[in-house]
Amino acid sequence: MSVFEIVIPGFKVFRVAPDSVAALAFLCERCDAFFQMLENRPGNYEAATGILNDLAPGKGLDSKHLFLVELDGRPVGVIDMTKDFPGKGQWYIALLLIDPDYRAQGLGRKIFKSAQGAIHDAGGIELQLCVQQQNPRAKRFWETQGFHSIGEAIQPLPLIENRVWKMKKLLGSV
Ligand SMILES: CC(C)(COP(=O)(O)OP(=O)(O)OC[C@H]1O[C@@H](n2cnc3c(N)ncnc32)[C@H](O)[C@@H]1OP(=O)(O)O)[C@@H](O)C(=O)NCCC(=O)NCCS
Repeated sequence: MSVFEIVIPGFKVFRVAPDSVAALAFLCERCDAFFQMLENRPGNYEAATGILNDLAPGKGLDSKHLFLVELDGRPVGVIDMTKDFPGKGQWYIALLLIDPDYRAQGLGRKIFKSAQGAIHDAGGIELQLCVQQQNPRAKRFWETQGFHSIGEAIQPLPLIENRVWKMKKLLGSV
């Protein structure tokens, strides 16, 4: 079986492990406003370990694919995905987050496109995610990437309860 990896020319992409959580924490601190808005807590080391340890219900570490993207040694983006969740062939994107200085320059699209290609090559047939309704700009981003809303739900978090849009995209020949 081929290795699941993300390749973005000009960037270093690697899996986040416990020994690289400090790099993820750097990005979380840069994205503090995002964590404040969606989770009512700071973007810090604790947020980074939370992302590292977060598993979808019923899934293990073997299903989790968490990648950090660096440019010239600086963490600039992260993507967190779960294979075969909620069902076989479906992949759940738990997080895509870009450093504020690097947004709206095509990096989110590049990371997503590369991840989507890798998922397709790994046999994935559908992508799902949730977008918090206080983040309508993210919804528009995902719509430009081919997702559409399939309903709404409540996301109960420790410090906040979010109303979310559930979105999905079928993978044909990507
Ligand atoms: C949402 C996010 C991941 C998008 O990444 P990005 O690098 O800023 O977006 P890109 O520059 O790659 O834009 C890709 C496309 O989305 C569109 N887009 C990006 N941001 C947008 C916005 N705020 N509103 C509307 N469209 C947007 C762009 O026009 C572009 O369209 P194109 O592919 O036709 O050129 C990034 O802005 C981010 O990290 N935001 C904060 C975290 C977040 O909300 N994550 C999503 C959680 S569900």
